[in-house]
This record gives sequence, C-alpha cells and structure tokens, in this order.
Amino acid sequence: MNNERSETAVNANCNRPPSLTAVSPFSFTDGNPAPTFVIDLDHVITHWNKACEQMLGRSAAEMIGTSDQWQPFYEKARPVMADFVVSGVGEELVDAYYKDKFRRSASIPDAYEAEDFFRQLGESGRWLSVSAAPLRNEQGVVVGAIQVMQDITRQKLAELSLYQTQLHLEQLVANRTDQLARANALLEEDVKQREVVETQLLVRNAELTELNAKLSTAQAQLVQSEKLASIGQLAAGVAHEINNPIGYIFSNFNSLSTYLERLFAMLAAYEAAEAKVADRQVADGLAAMRKKVELDFLKEDIPVLMSESQEGIVRVRKIVQDLKDFSRVQDDSDWQWADLHQGIDATLNIVNNEVKYKADIVKQYGDLPEVECLPSEINQVVMNIVVNAAHSIGPARGAITIRTKAVGDRAVLEISDNGSGIAKENLARIFDPFFTTKPVGKGTGLGLSLSYGIIQKHRGQIEVESELGKGTTFRISLPIRHAAPEAQP
Ligand SMILES: Nc1ncnc2c1ncn2[C@@H]1O[C@H](COP(=O)(O)OP(=O)(O)O)[C@@H](O)[C@H]1O
Ligand SMILES: [Mg+2]
Repeated sequence: MNNERSETAVNANCNRPPSLTAVSPFSFTDGNPAPTFVIDLDHVITHWNKACEQMLGRSAAEMIGTSDQWQPFYEKARPVMADFVVSGVGEELVDAYYKDKFRRSASIPDAYEAEDFFRQLGESGRWLSVSAAPLRNEQGVVVGAIQVMQDITRQKLAELSLYQTQLHLEQLVANRTDQLARANALLEEDVKQREVVETQLLVRNAELTELNAKLSTAQAQLVQSEKLASIGQLAAGVAHEINNPIGYIFSNFNSLSTYLERLFAMLAAYEAAEAKVADRQVADGLAAMRKKVELDFLKEDIPVLMSESQEGIVRVRKIVQDLKDFSRVQDDSDWQWADLHQGIDATLNIVNNEVKYKADIVKQYGDLPEVECLPSEINQVVMNIVVNAAHSIGPARGAITIRTKAVGDRAVLEISDNGSGIAKENLARIFDPFFTTKPVGKGTGLGLSLSYGIIQKHRGQIEVESELGKGTTFRISLPIRHAAPEAQP
C-alpha cells in the first residue's frame, strides 16, 4: 500500500494539481537519520521514515495513507505541527496547542519549531524538538508539510540536572549567606554588648575614681579632725592652766605700771630735793648710788620694758583665747539665720587697721539667702583668712577680693588675694594646728586650723588654691540650711 501510493504520486507528477509527487520520497525517508514524516494537503501521511518508526514505535505500513500522525504523541486526536503548516492556521491556534513553547523558524518561512515533553513516548515520556515546514513544488506552491523530530531528552535531563545543581548551589550559597549574615549579626551583637560592657566599665571606673577621691578627702578630713580633736584636748588643758596665771599677771601688771609711775614721781621729787641736802657726805653718797644703779638708764628703760612685757602678755592672752575658742564645746543654741554679707562687712571693719595700708578690698557679692550658721564663728573664719591675705601682700599695694554666690542649696564664699602664694610643700599643712611660716611672735599657726574646725562643724567645705608669686584663693561652701548631726547619713 505504501509503495502503491508512492508510485501513484510519482506517476501523477506531470499533469495533476500540485502534489507531493514532485518531491523525491527517498530523500526524506529511510536515508534521513532524523525521524521525519510528510503529510499532503489532505493531512494524509505520505512518508514515515525508519528513524520515525524507531522513535515513535509505529511502522510506515501502519501510518502511511492515514491521518493518524497525532497518535504516537497524544491520547486524543488533535493537529500536530505539520497539520498547522498545511492548513496555514493562525499563530493563535498554534499557540493554543503548543502553549508558549513554539516559535517561528528564523530561517525557513512559514516553518515552526517547538520543544515539548510527550508523556506517551518511551517508558517514561520523551522530550522532543519538533520542527515542521511547508513542502513546495518547483513552482513554489505548497504541496504538503514535513515534520522532523529530534529526541532531546538527554539534553533536557542534563539541563534539568544542571538546573537542579544550580538550584542546589544557589541554595547552598543562600544558606551560606544566611549563616554568614547570622554570624555577622551575632558578631555585631557581641560587639554591641562589648561596647555596652566597656562603657559600663568606664562609668564604673569613673565612679570608682570619684569614690576614691571622696575617700581620700574623707580620710584627709578624718586625719584633720583627729588632729583637731587631740590638739583640742591639749589646748583645752593648756588654755585652762595658763588662763588663770596670765589673768592675774595681766591685772597685776596694770597695777605694777601705776605703782611704777608713782615711784618715778617720788624719785623725781627725791632728785629735786637732792641739791638741797646740806650734809656733804649724804649728798655724795646719793650721787654715787645714782651712778651705780644707772638711775637715768633705768628711768628710760623701765617704761620700755614694761610696755614690751605688756604687749607680750596681751599676745599670750590672745593665744590662750584662741586656744579656748579652738577647743570650745559648741552650744547648739547659737545657730541662727544670718546675712553673711552683713557679717563679712562687720569683720572687715574690725580688721580694717591690718588691711588698709596694704590692699584694697574688692567686694563682689552675689545673691545670697540667709544662711543658718554660728555667725560669730563664721566671722572669725573670714577674719583669719582676710588677715592672712593682708599678711601675704608684699610692699606693693595688693587687692583682696571677696566673692559670694549661691550654688544649689549651698552658699559659696571666696576670698582671693594677689599676694605671695603658698609653696606646694606647705599647701597640705596650712590647716595643721601651729603650722606657720610667719616669724615668732607674728603667727600662731592656729587661724586656719580653727577655721577648718568651724567650717567642719557647719558641715561645709574649705578649699585652697594657690600659685606661688601669683596669689591664693580660699573657697568656703556652707549648706544654707544647717542639718542636725543625727540627720546626716
Ligand atoms: N593668703 C595667704 N597667702 C599666703 N600664705 C598663706 C595665706 N593664708 C595662709 N597662709 C599660710 O598658712 C600659714 C598658716 O596660717 P594660719 O593658720 O592663719 O597661721 P598664721 O597666720 O598664724 O601663720 C601661714 O603661716 C602662711 O604660711
Ligand atoms: Mg593667720
């Protein structure tokens, strides 16, 4: 049947309407290694080559002369690509059957190509590359269509495995990236925590440093108050012992002065009478006696000695008084609300004599509320510091500046001078009792230690800043409201 039809086709070549007889059937059939079949304009199979038989499992005898070209590929009848080429249907239809897997051939006009998977083929389906093109006779008239198939299953599987490998690789990369990102996040978290710990450490360190500084200050204050306490006890004893004798020496001395004046008056009277002594021997004796005792010198020297001694006694009395003040047990009923500016002004009046020839007083008073304090003691502190400042100023006229201000719940008082300044090695000792750099007789070394005790009693602070040759500033800060000792932590 196959041969018959082929021959018919060949014989009818010359005078029949365009047909496939113009095409040498052999060229498409068994000599062609690519699975190939041909249909005519009636969609009837005219050629089905060996390769086609092998690939599609249908023999040429079975297929030629039928329109069963769909059978090897599909479960139900439908046009295959060659059918579309023959009937010249629109692309939409091709698209509907081949989905978006087909494309127009780039080289052959009106030819199509597609790649698809055919479940019916082989054991578990095959991938085929299908192409179909019109067949034309010598006049260029379409006489049928040829469809060529190529098994691309291996290539597709390879592509698939490549794709899978790629997917796997991408997955690996994604996993790795994810791991890295997590590790990175962990690291960042770690770094952040470290930074937090570090800042905490820094803060802690700063706190410790501050605490340490406070401890040092507290220790210094403790040492200072220890010294003050022991010196206080000693001073109280000494002051008590000296106070009495110095008291009667002082009053006796006053009497002695008046008595001496009277004696000198009497002596003057005797001297005046001397010239009138008639007895030569007596007169000579008196003259010799006067010479011997150096009466003229005594008359000159005794008043000097007296006044010097009196000054000494006054000074001793002052020291004893200082010592008594120093060791005095505070009577808490003396606490008062006081205007510090008023107290400072009164004190400046008292020390005016010490200061006026040496320095100008510059007052820079700020706004201060009344301060709860022991006013006379604060005045004493101001006096000590101002007098020290005046002492520190050399021959050239200087300035003593007094500043006040309120800082939070504290009153701050600063007294600065542009005097000699304090040597570094002395700075730590100026609050020590009896520390003085002044000549014997001029300084007792008690002023600042007394002041220190007073400020401590007020739960305030006294600090000093000094530069040798430039000057000194004492800074006192007092709580505006006095806190009872038991209320203190
Ligand atoms: N403003 C000051 N300028 C320089 N030195 C000072 C000043 N204030 C105090 N000093 C030093 O501190 C020492 C102790 O002072 P103080 O206790 O008042 O005792 P005194 O005045 O009797 O020496 C002084 O001898 C002096 O060396
Ligand atoms: Mg002094």
